[in-house]
Amino acid sequence: MIREIILTTRSAEDRFHIAPMGVHFAGDEVIVMPFRPSTTLDNILATRQAVINYTDDVRVFAGCLTGRRDWPLIDSVRVGCPRLAGALAHAELELTLAEPDDLRPRLHMRIVHEATHAPFRGFNRAQFAVLEAAILVSRLNLLPWGKIESELAYLRTGLEKTAGAAEREAWGWLMQAIEDVRTAGPEKAVGA
Ligand SMILES: Cc1cc2nc3c(=O)[nH]c(=O)nc-3n(C[C@H](O)[C@H](O)[C@H](O)COP(=O)(O)O)c2cc1C
Repeated sequence: MIREIILTTRSAEDRFHIAPMGVHFAGDEVIVMPFRPSTTLDNILATRQAVINYTDDVRVFAGCLTGRRDWPLIDSVRVGCPRLAGALAHAELELTLAEPDDLRPRLHMRIVHEATHAPFRGFNRAQFAVLEAAILVSRLNLLPWGKIESELAYLRTGLEKTAGAAEREAWGWLMQAIEDVRTAGPEKAVGA
């Protein structure tokens, strides 16, 4: 099972970093698979720690992809990198094994502490739409415009029927980022 979460990490120089990641849950193990180059990868290899933040605030996902990474953080319990202050729950991780790979290393991690902070209040189609659009934004330099446009048209239906203010704001940031790349050229895309 892959869960879309926000991963917080810390560099050897004590700089915090936050990034959306799809992490694999396999039994007791969590496997993080960052594509090179990646600050997340560098930080985990340097400090052997990370924090999974479970959040339904999709502005954090869209924000990280559009240059808005300044989300409130607070100290974790067992590891030296912080968690999102607004997380519904979080899990603190330590690296057990790094499987090297030129494209996408596999970082095997174990949970050393978990806590819940607020209830999960159900699924929302607009949140799904924002997550999928954020993934499209992270791949703008790889995907043809026709595919991006047809996927956005499909996602917009669920967004328009079910979004609250946070989902609309997150969607707006992503649409602006897509428009910027369309006018400036693909070399401006996230990850390009
Ligand atoms: C929902 C979602 C899931 C993502 N999952 C991954 C992932 O598993 N691996 C990855 O390298 N990037 C993933 N990304 C893209 C990264 O968040 C983004 O490219 C980020 O900048 C990673 O690079 P960094 O570690 O240097 O911040 C995902 C993005 C979204 C929106």
